[in-house]
Amino acid sequence: MYIDREGRSRVYTIITLVISALLLTIASPMTKAQTPPGNDPGSQKLFNMEMGPNRSIFRPSMDPNRTANGLALTPPMGWNSWNKLGCNIDEKAVRAIADAMVNTGMRDAGYQYVVIDDCWQGKRDPDGNITADSVKFPSGIKALSDYVHSKGLKFGIYSDAGSKTCGGRLGSQGHEYQDALTYARWAVDYLKYDWCFTGTRNSEEAYALMADALRATGRDIVFSICNWGVNRPTMTDKFMAWDWGQKIGNLWRTTEDIYDAWAGRKGTSLGMVNIVDLTEPLYGHAGPGHWNDPDMLEIGNGGMSATEYRGQFSLWAMMAAPLIAGNDIAAMDDDTRNILTNREVIAVDQDPMGVAGRRVRDDGDLEVWARTLADGSRAIVLFNRSDKPADITASWPEVGYPTSMALKVRDLWEHTSLGTRTEKFTANVPAHGVVMVRLSQ
Ligand code: GLA
Repeated sequence: MYIDREGRSRVYTIITLVISALLLTIASPMTKAQTPPGNDPGSQKLFNMEMGPNRSIFRPSMDPNRTANGLALTPPMGWNSWNKLGCNIDEKAVRAIADAMVNTGMRDAGYQYVVIDDCWQGKRDPDGNITADSVKFPSGIKALSDYVHSKGLKFGIYSDAGSKTCGGRLGSQGHEYQDALTYARWAVDYLKYDWCFTGTRNSEEAYALMADALRATGRDIVFSICNWGVNRPTMTDKFMAWDWGQKIGNLWRTTEDIYDAWAGRKGTSLGMVNIVDLTEPLYGHAGPGHWNDPDMLEIGNGGMSATEYRGQFSLWAMMAAPLIAGNDIAAMDDDTRNILTNREVIAVDQDPMGVAGRRVRDDGDLEVWARTLADGSRAIVLFNRSDKPADITASWPEVGYPTSMALKVRDLWEHTSLGTRTEKFTANVPAHGVVMVRLSQ
């Protein structure tokens, strides 16, 4: 059969249209909506609720009636038992830390929460109420909480959304409202809620449930979401905590656990700069009441140099991260205390505008970070990852100022004013170290 040129192009058009229609049908969400996993009407209804226009019914974070709890308008500051003590906690150790928080000036520098991490739990009583391990905490948690409060501090505790905690103690699954009530009776001010032994649970649902339980107690309890920035390999759990956590918790872990090293991986734990690289890109999710949590400070635990620890403190402040010390406050040396209580760096972390900083230039091992502060000034970190000292320059346009502007430079580690500059600021930065300044008009 002979088809002329026009006829041929008509045939091509028809073939193209048919193929496109077929492809569209395969890719279309309508196909999914029309194909429920089961044949019964109930299954169709459930399927439509998740995949159809009403799917927010499965997204507690999208409930228009949900409000943030109004707490942690600046990143929480405190101490947590895990990094130093692990499961070796008892009431004597926690009391000593509470005393030291006062005696060392940590409290006056802004550290508020004393948080006992995993392994405080005993059994559930016959009514299902959680009790403390009576060997480690013979006076009970309420007495410890009262002691911490008597020092002008706040008290925090730890549990898990699964059947067991990561340390194998009892978790809160199935007891969320009951446990929240127990914590409120113990005058708990902060709950870190972990993610071990959760099976196929959906984390948004699990954390929203505990958030609701905490709210229902009527007590102000900061809620720390600790699901490590990972996703379960399940159908429904496809959103990260920073996608849904803003009105559910006050902070969410961005990574697996930190360990006390400059860089690297040890089992499921990551070194300091690995955590920085995973957290920095999330800067847009942080804000008053809801913070990225790159895990706790290792400052003073011995695995890094004082220079590297100054780096951790500076970068955590730039990321608007919670400052939760994890060392033995009672026995810390001067270097450690001077880092943890550096008020000029703490002021950057606690800036009331709550806009997290970010890396504005990445020249391989040499980086420039900038954070805009409420008074219009900028915190700048020059970060040298290499193993040799190096000059690093921050130019005004890359940190958000016009070139000709005259800016005062204040060194936040040396606590000295370096005069006024235009155009740029250059400093020699030690290996694995930082120079941190504040630029202001
Ligand atoms: C997890 C958390 C840690 C710590 C331990 C306790 O690994 O991420 O921060 O709480 O559990 O077992």
